[in-house]
Amino acid sequence: MKKIKIANCDLDASEISLGCMRIAEMTKQDIATLIHTALDEGINFFDHADVYGGGQSEARFSEALDMTPRVRETMILQTKCGIRKGAFDFSKAHILEAVEGSLQRLRTDYLDVLLLHRPDALVEPEEVAEAFTTLHDSGKVKYFGVSNQNPMQIELLTKFVKQPIIFNQLQLSITNTGMIDAGINVNMENDPSINRDGSILDYCRLKDITIQPWSPFQFGFFEGVFLDNDQFPILNQKIDALAATYGVTNSAIAIAWLLRHPAHMQPILGTTNPGRVRDSSKASGIWLTREEWYEIYLAAGNKLP
Ligand SMILES: NC(=O)c1ccc[n+]([C@@H]2O[C@H](COP(=O)([O-])OP(=O)(O)OC[C@H]3O[C@@H](n4cnc5c(N)ncnc54)[C@H](OP(=O)(O)O)[C@@H]3O)[C@@H](O)[C@H]2O)c1
Repeated sequence: MKKIKIANCDLDASEISLGCMRIAEMTKQDIATLIHTALDEGINFFDHADVYGGGQSEARFSEALDMTPRVRETMILQTKCGIRKGAFDFSKAHILEAVEGSLQRLRTDYLDVLLLHRPDALVEPEEVAEAFTTLHDSGKVKYFGVSNQNPMQIELLTKFVKQPIIFNQLQLSITNTGMIDAGINVNMENDPSINRDGSILDYCRLKDITIQPWSPFQFGFFEGVFLDNDQFPILNQKIDALAATYGVTNSAIAIAWLLRHPAHMQPILGTTNPGRVRDSSKASGIWLTREEWYEIYLAAGNKLP
């Protein structure tokens, strides 16, 4: 597993990470097997959120590992805050309280990374700045980032926040390419030309913010997996052909497609299946050609102007 250079920090992170959104209902043994499989594959970066499984994902993760300081040091832990029942909340009080809860559930005294989960319409960036400084200065959080934010929202935050924003976690997969489509279709009057997120892809590259694509195997908003799905026959044909060429599974090709983008993204796997973790990890050794990357993009139903 290759490591990824993440700007403005000293994290020695794997270029593929494992998301823990779906682990809450698993047995302790199955969670342990999943995490150890990831570690054995060289995945040392784990993504959480205080709301996953109502807090249970974080708690069951540390329980499954029998978390100790020594185990903790073998991994990079990221979590998110800012989602409450019926509201988003980036207030200082909520951020500080949420981090305390995550630290307790993960059985650790520090987070490597804290992300703001979904934009709060009532955000007061001065408060976020105070919360981040308190957390940073106390050693409870090393680095900060955002999730699902557009360029102007990040600009607003960074006017006040002193620490660098190192990540933006965004929905991106072969079948969710709005941020790529808008760049390809500039100056067109078709639907893909609609710039829905303020050129977030180019903005993140400009500002050295690493994009973490979430739901790399899903189409729509959690509608299902596009791999081996009859709704995407041409795409699967293309992916399967490339999988045969590279001697890997279709999961690896789906992740390799994200890794091939020169923005140097860090995809987050959501599988709970150790076999799929192993399969997907093979993506780290694949560098698709420019032609192959575009062939997949077109096989997903996209057109070039
Ligand atoms: N920032 C945000 O707003 C946000 C939102 C959503 C997610 N996330 C993060 O992103 C991570 C990944 O999201 P996700 O779980 O939706 O991603 P995903 O990897 O696209 O989807 C995983 C799901 O697809 C299933 N799956 C079925 N067939 C598969 C195949 N052939 N290959 C791979 N998976 C297959 C998995 O089942 P099995 O478990 O049986 O393999 C699992 O239920 C989450 O864990 C979370 O950390 C962030």
